[in-house]
Amino acid sequence: MYFVKTLVYLATLLGFAMAQSMQILSPPPGTTVTPGTNFTVSLQMSNYPESIDIVAIVIGLQSCSSNSTCYPPNQVMGTVLYQGSFAPPFVLSANFSVAAPTSFPSGPAQLGVINYFLVGAENENNLQFLNETLTVS
Ligand SMILES: *[C@@H]1O[C@H](CO)[C@@H](O)[C@H](O)[C@H]1NC(C)=O
Ligand SMILES: *[C@@H]1O[C@H](CO)[C@@H](O)[C@H](O)[C@H]1NC(C)=O
Ligand SMILES: *[C@@H]1O[C@H](CO)[C@@H](O)[C@H](O)[C@H]1NC(C)=O
Ligand SMILES: *[C@@H]1O[C@H](CO)[C@@H](O)[C@H](O)[C@H]1NC(C)=O
Repeated sequence: MYFVKTLVYLATLLGFAMAQSMQILSPPPGTTVTPGTNFTVSLQMSNYPESIDIVAIVIGLQSCSSNSTCYPPNQVMGTVLYQGSFAPPFVLSANFSVAAPTSFPSGPAQLGVINYFLVGAENENNLQFLNETLTVS
């Protein structure tokens, strides 16, 4: 019985970890953004019947034009467009108006997001990295 309970507990933990992730709703991958012109980054955390506290996020834009590959967002963020709080505690979606600096190189670029959040009564630590490709022109 105890064994079964443990299994259920582990499966539930795994389920939580898999169910909880943030998505970039906007801009869609492949969007062209203009340096100096604001665009909206819309982020949505999947819902789950357990408390999720998004502590902080970072939104970065990395130019991939000098070397057609970009580094993954867990290594390099490029230019930080936004860093700070996400929304009031336990609010799971937010929009951020950001702009690439006017000096930002044209060409392919990678939008990266770091999401630091706590889950449940025990406040489990979670760090999630998101990325998508944009064009700067
Ligand atoms: C381009 O990026 C790749 C992968 O990170 C790296 O191995 C290579 O040295 C880079 N090339 C230049 C010219 O920076
Ligand atoms: C970048 O995003 C793609 C598509 O969502 C994903 O498959 C990939 O794992 C991400 N890469 C990193 C380093 O996070
Ligand atoms: C973000 O912007 C979209 C498009 O304007 C809007 O539909 C959505 O409600 C906004 N979300 C939040 C959390 O303000
Ligand atoms: C445009 O983006 C910058 C950051 O990139 C931000 O500080 C500024 O508030 C935004 N402007 C508007 C009108 O939202």
